[in-house]
Amino acid sequence: MKSLFLARSLPVVAGVVLFSGAGASAQDANALYTRALAATCANCHGTSGRAIDNSEVPGLAGMPAAYLAAQMQAFKKGERPATVMHQLAKGYTDEQIQQIAAYFAAQKK
Ligand code: HEC
Repeated sequence: MKSLFLARSLPVVAGVVLFSGAGASAQDANALYTRALAATCANCHGTSGRAIDNSEVPGLAGMPAAYLAAQMQAFKKGERPATVMHQLAKGYTDEQIQQIAAYFAAQKK
């Protein structure tokens, strides 16, 4: 799965940015890393979590972080039935889920 491959290769990308100098702070690198993680959701949930009109897949922008994180955990543990999310959710650590949830909660709908 392309998106899972991307998620696994992200720490490498963030590391390169962090150590490439050019004044990039650890904070910048972390923000970039979080955005890159969230971008793996864009194919289905829309850019920055804003779903396109009449999409069957719900938007994530503005979704409360606690709700989003709880759904991801439920998908991961198989407690919430799904067509794809139960597989995708397994590719993220609990910490990454928290980061993604905080990112989408901060996006405008
Ligand atoms: C391949 C398409 C696809 C990708 C990529 C994807 N999703 Fe989903 N998502 C879905 C679908 C489809 C559903 C509806 C549940 C199901 O059938 O799996 C869903 C449902 C959800 C829900 C439940 C929404 C609600 O209203 O309860 C959340 C939360 C969610 N996805 C988060 C994410 C996050 C975070 C990512 C990125 C890490 C992501 N999804 C990536 C297709 C996708």
